Amino acid sequence: MTSQTLNLVPFVDVDNMMRLVHAVGIERFLQELSDYVAEDFRRWQLFDKTPRVAAHSPDGVIELMPTSDGTLYGFKYVNGHPKNTRSGRQTVTAFGMLSDVDTGYPLLLSEMTILTALRTAATSAVAAKALAREGSRCMALIGNGAQSEFQAMAFRAVLGVDRLRLYDIDPEATARCRSNLARFGFEITACASAEEAVEGADIITTATADKLYATILSDNMVGAGVHINAVGGDCPGKTELHRDILLRSEIFVEYPPQTRIEGEIQQLDEDYPVKELWQVLSGQIPGRTDTAQVTLFDSVGFATEDFSALRYVRDQLAEHACYQDLDLLADPDEPRDLFGMLMRAAPARRSA
Ligand SMILES: NC(=O)c1ccc[n+]([C@@H]2O[C@H](COP(=O)([O-])OP(=O)(O)OC[C@H]3O[C@@H](n4cnc5c(N)ncnc54)[C@H](O)[C@@H]3O)[C@@H](O)[C@H]2O)c1
Repeated sequence: MTSQTLNLVPFVDVDNMMRLVHAVGIERFLQELSDYVAEDFRRWQLFDKTPRVAAHSPDGVIELMPTSDGTLYGFKYVNGHPKNTRSGRQTVTAFGMLSDVDTGYPLLLSEMTILTALRTAATSAVAAKALAREGSRCMALIGNGAQSEFQAMAFRAVLGVDRLRLYDIDPEATARCRSNLARFGFEITACASAEEAVEGADIITTATADKLYATILSDNMVGAGVHINAVGGDCPGKTELHRDILLRSEIFVEYPPQTRIEGEIQQLDEDYPVKELWQVLSGQIPGRTDTAQVTLFDSVGFATEDFSALRYVRDQLAEHACYQDLDLLADPDEPRDLFGMLMRAAPARRSA
C-alpha cells in the first residue's frame, strides 16, 4: 500500500453487499460463511471476549460488539427495536469494521444489516449441523420477519432442510416469507398457530421480536429428539421459551457470560449447567448424545460471528470488486503535521 492510499478504506454499502451476495450466490455465500463462523469457533481461545456493551432504553437496545484474534480487530454497532417495524424501520440494523491490530488502521467498513441476518443464519445452521438429529429435513419457522428467509436458506445450504412450516402472528409476514422462498424449491406449509407449525418438525426455529418474556413455545409443544434454534430471545427481559423446556433440554450457548444476561437461560439460576458451542465444534465435548434428546441452541449473537462475517466479506473483495474506497483516514504527508494539513485546506488558502 502506498502513502497515497493510506487514507482509503474499502466500504461495502448496502447496494454493494447485495451485489456481493448475488455475485457469490446466496447458498454458496451461506455455506462459506458458515465455514468461517465454525473455523473461528474452533479458534475460540485466541479471541478477546467480552459480553457486548448494551445501552438499553424502554423500546430497544443499542449494542457494541468488539473482539480480536490478535491479528485482526472487529466490532459491530447493532440495534434491536421491535416496535420499529410500525414506523417503517427495521427491528435490527447494523454496521461494522475490521482493523489491522498491528497498525490499528481500519481494513474494511461494512453495512451489517444484511450481513447480520446472513451471519445469524449461518451460525444457527452451524449449531444445528452439530446438534440436530442426523437427517433433519423439516423445520418449523416461528416469526416470519426479516431474519426468517435467511434462516431457511442457511438450513437448506448447510443441512439440506427442504420442508418448512411457517407461523407468524401476522399472516402477511408468513405470506411474504413464503413468496420470497417460493423459487428455492422448499415444500412450504403456512400454519395457523405455533402448535400447528411444530407438528412433525425436526428443528424448531423461533425468531420473533417482542420486548418481553414471551412464550412462543410451551413445554408440551416440544417432542423428543427436536432441536430448538432460539434466535429471538437476545436481551434482558426478552425471551421466547417456557422455562420448563430449558429444564429438559441440553443447552448450548455461544459465550456464557453474555448469554446468561441476554439468552433464554436468563430464566435459570446463574450457575445452571450449559455447554459451549465452541467446545462441540472443536471436538472437546459431544453435541447430541442420543436421538431422543432435546437440544437447544440459545442464540444471542456473539462478536466472533460478526468478526467471521467481516473476515469473509473482506476475503471476497479480492475477487469481487463490490466496494468503494472511502476517504476515512486523515493522511498528512508528514504524519505529525495533522494541523498543517487542516490549515492548508482552508478555503482562503485554496483560492489564493
Ligand atoms: N440471536 C441472534 O444472533 C439474533 C440476530 C438478529 C436478530 N435477532 C432477534 O431475532 C428476532 C427477529 O428479528 P427480525 O429482524 O426478524 O425481526 P422482525 O421484527 O423483522 O420480525 C419478527 C417477527 O416476529 C413476529 N412475531 C412477534 N411476536 C410473535 C409471536 N408471539 N408469535 C409468532 N410471531 C411473532 C412478528 O409479527 C414479526 O413478523 C428479534 O427479536 C431480534 O432481536 C437475534
